[in-house]
Amino acid sequence: MNENHDVLLEINNLRKYFAVKGGSIFKKRYVQAVESVSFSIYRGETLGLVGESGCGKTTLGRTIIRLYEPTSGRIVYDGTPIYDSEQKIAVDMLPYRRKMQIIFQDPSASLDPRMTVGEIVGEALDIHKLCPGKQERRDRINSLLDEVGLNTEHANRFPHEFSGGQQQRIGIARALAVDPEFIVCDEPISALDVSIQSQVVNMLEDLQAEKHLTYLFIAHDISVVRHISNRIGVMYLGQMVELAESFELCSHPIHPYTQTLLSAVPLPDPVKSRARQRILLEGDIPSPLDPPKGCRFHTRCPYATERCRSEQPELKEYGTGHFAACHLLEKG
Ligand SMILES: Nc1ncnc2c1ncn2[C@@H]1O[C@H](COP(=O)(O)OP(=O)(O)OP(=O)(O)O)[C@@H](O)[C@H]1O
Ligand code: SF4
Ligand SMILES: [Mg+2]
Repeated sequence: MNENHDVLLEINNLRKYFAVKGGSIFKKRYVQAVESVSFSIYRGETLGLVGESGCGKTTLGRTIIRLYEPTSGRIVYDGTPIYDSEQKIAVDMLPYRRKMQIIFQDPSASLDPRMTVGEIVGEALDIHKLCPGKQERRDRINSLLDEVGLNTEHANRFPHEFSGGQQQRIGIARALAVDPEFIVCDEPISALDVSIQSQVVNMLEDLQAEKHLTYLFIAHDISVVRHISNRIGVMYLGQMVELAESFELCSHPIHPYTQTLLSAVPLPDPVKSRARQRILLEGDIPSPLDPPKGCRFHTRCPYATERCRSEQPELKEYGTGHFAACHLLEKG
């Protein structure tokens, strides 16, 4: 990709399949949740990742940080391969678990109800042996709580005693505890009240600037990430179909699926918004257990041709840093 950028993570042909019940002993069935995804994440950027429910955003985020074991492909972190299915390298993941963290979509489900907030935030400090002294550990937990807008008395309470927004702040403190470089923010605000969503987003932006963090910011909706992302990637049925700088993607989407997604986002000017035609997709999103051959979007794409039904389009660059996977674009 762009050579002027400092690449923190390079992902090549990454696949994650889940084996599911129902196959025969001769032929197992797999959910092809992530299929041959390649892209880079630049140091210090926020890369937004959008797409409909079930398109593989969470699976991709979790596979990149090796919370899920990849099925195949290659992941390079800061120049060092941390997964390579061809080379079969053995990597001690412990140092990378410290560098790469995740904030989960549902804060209440991601916090152990039997642990106090202090124990939850302190657990990673213990695993990575970051604060051997008791007082040092206590001070570190208190300063983390302070950084996310909670206070020191909260350390002795349990997750159920907090609101959704506060629970997400606990999740953020836990992720920050080990001083990570890269954080997968998996829809960190979608379970929160609208009134507190912007507070949490602002806090994540401030923390990013202060700690030079790199984010992969997952959202259902482009309107959530368009203002906070440097670039945006669009997924459809396990694949990356378009990737570009945020303003470029929102103002000049070139993949038919992205054009559909954007046609549903209201414009700030209500007159323009009413005048714009909304593109409606026909049919449901196909099952990742048996995805369509060729371009996975062909069953719903208004421009599909015979070639689209048999040949998978590759993600190619059309204009600086603007990538898309569509046969239509190749004709120039
Ligand atoms: N552990 C699992 N076992 C089997 N299938 C799974 C598993 N996790 C996810 N899937 C399937 O993989 C596909 C991608 O799921 P994923 O959760 O990554 O999508 P998503 O884009 O994050 O969706 P959402 O926006 O609803 O969070 C879905 O079809 C899902 O049912
Ligand atoms: S490759 Fe064909 S089916 Fe796929 S998005 Fe392009 S035109 Fe539509
Ligand atoms: Mg998800």
